[in-house]
Amino acid sequence: MALPHGGVSTDTKTVTYASYLDLDRLLAAQHPSSDRHDELLFILIHQTKELWLKEIIHEVRLAKRLVRSGEVEPAYKALARVSRIQSIMTLSWDVLATMTPADYMSFREGLGTSSGFQSWQFRTLEYLLGLKDASFLAFQDEGSAPMAELKGALEAPSLYDDALSRMAAHGLAVPDEVLNRDVSQPYAPSPAVEDAWLAVYRDTARYWELYQLAEKLVDLDDALLTWRHKHVLTVERIIGGKPGTGGTAGAAGGGYLQRTLQRRCFPELWSLRTRL
Ligand code: HEM
Repeated sequence: MALPHGGVSTDTKTVTYASYLDLDRLLAAQHPSSDRHDELLFILIHQTKELWLKEIIHEVRLAKRLVRSGEVEPAYKALARVSRIQSIMTLSWDVLATMTPADYMSFREGLGTSSGFQSWQFRTLEYLLGLKDASFLAFQDEGSAPMAELKGALEAPSLYDDALSRMAAHGLAVPDEVLNRDVSQPYAPSPAVEDAWLAVYRDTARYWELYQLAEKLVDLDDALLTWRHKHVLTVERIIGGKPGTGGTAGAAGGGYLQRTLQRRCFPELWSLRTRL
């Protein structure tokens, strides 16, 4: 049994499958607001997403530490694991899509104004990857643990900042104003950073480590966008053009969700491709 300080208890005789996994609490954590059959699926899909996000955040933090300390190769393993989890998360939209508009409307009122929009783990992941937008802090309570975690991720360098530092360590010309920027602010794409990535992609043998890292990052960005696309499609399938419970225009063209499809965590890794 794992102990808070990271050791392992020698008293393993009392450990059972249920106690190790804390199943009593896990399986008692579903509280439908109605007696409608489909609400359990709706809750479980969201809960599994939060569990997977917990693991993804755990892996991205490891990858960040490794990239920062120059141990880039071991970071690939963590990032590859993240990509696999993202595939599962994207697939789970197909499970949710078995819930019809009529099924959802039968319990939607019970959700009040709650929305995936308020997921602090989702925002923590966005911040860790480099999508900084302080406005999402407003959804967490001041002084709470989620707020502390979110603020910590907002104010720390992102995985992309770590990769750019690594490029500088390889002697590539990453401007000081990029390396020393205020990391809590949204990242502004830089022509000089694009040039530096271009140098990596034009001489992959020389910059193999950075080239591999770049492609792993593109895997993550690609999978996050695929997840977002499938979310918007599922939203349209289930509520059409209706507004969301969180108050946005929902899947409507030009609305909030459509605009999120433009977000890129690692913009120059996309833009350089035109110039190759
Ligand atoms: C009936 C199914 C669903 C509908 C109709 C729906 C609708 C929406 C809408 C309209 C938004 C924009 C904010 C708002 O106005 O509420 C949103 C945001 C979000 N939803 Fe869903 N959603 C559904 C299921 C899910 C599920 C199952 C997940 C996770 C597994 C999820 C995760 C999110 C996240 C993370 C956001 C924030 C996206 C961003 O800001 O980039 N949603 N959802």
